Amino acid sequence: MSKYHRVGSEAGDKAEIKRSSKVRYRINWKRFAVFILLVVLVLFLCIKGITGCVNRDKPDDGSVKKDNVADPSTVELKGDEPPTGEDTSIRGIPELKDVLTYDDGDLLVLVNKYHGVTRDYEPEGMVTVEMSMAAWDDIQIKKEAYDAFVEMFNDAAAQGYSFCICSGYRSYEYQQELFENALATQSEEEAHMFSAYPGRSEHHTGLAIDITSESMDWALSQDFASYPEGQWLDEHCQDYGFILRYQKGKEDITGYQYEPWHFRYVGKEVAKDIMSRGITFEEYLGEN
Ligand code: DAL
Ligand code: ZN
Repeated sequence: MSKYHRVGSEAGDKAEIKRSSKVRYRINWKRFAVFILLVVLVLFLCIKGITGCVNRDKPDDGSVKKDNVADPSTVELKGDEPPTGEDTSIRGIPELKDVLTYDDGDLLVLVNKYHGVTRDYEPEGMVTVEMSMAAWDDIQIKKEAYDAFVEMFNDAAAQGYSFCICSGYRSYEYQQELFENALATQSEEEAHMFSAYPGRSEHHTGLAIDITSESMDWALSQDFASYPEGQWLDEHCQDYGFILRYQKGKEDITGYQYEPWHFRYVGKEVAKDIMSRGITFEEYLGEN
């Protein structure tokens, strides 16, 4: 027995079906007219959309790269030309010398207070750090740096040291948040020594990582230098292609305070050279 209650006789049902099919026939004409109108509207919008795309002012990335033959990866800034997309309202921010417009795969790109990246700069070949080696989910870095980190992580683990990445790639917007947070919680002078301006952080290249450990309660502090993990990294990072980027006593060159947690991937040969000579990346490149 059906759980639905039937209303009316079978004959009555049939008459109803006949009546309703006539009514439905009339309504279908109306629907057809509405359908035609909709088709016309959609066609109109499509044509408008296509025309809009063709008329875009901004060329795509490919054409920018091909057009700029001399040195397509960086643009030298002249006079008071504003760097592409940069927020110029930050007080005390030094003038940029150049901006990197796209990733050409150079591991030795210099990004610091004077050498920036464009707001929409995107490093190529990014991978997500596995959770066993990350403090949070969805940390991304470039594959070359990640492969080197995995090797370093495994060798350290075999020797009884455990650490993880707590910061990798940062977008312009995320770095802006961090810088504003630094300004809100520290003096202006301290904030400038602690946090990079948006568009001027090495983290934007996907080649820089911050490392911490459970023993540090996942925090970033100069105490890391006296913890076994920090000491191991200081001693061995160059064997895996990393340099300790912001060294003690080199603040006037790097522009940042000592950061025993911030490592930059440059490849093994260069890392060994830099770390064995105790110089900064700026000194190695002969730039500031
Ligand atoms: N703490 C480093 C300088 C950065 O914000 O990139
Ligand atoms: Zn860092």
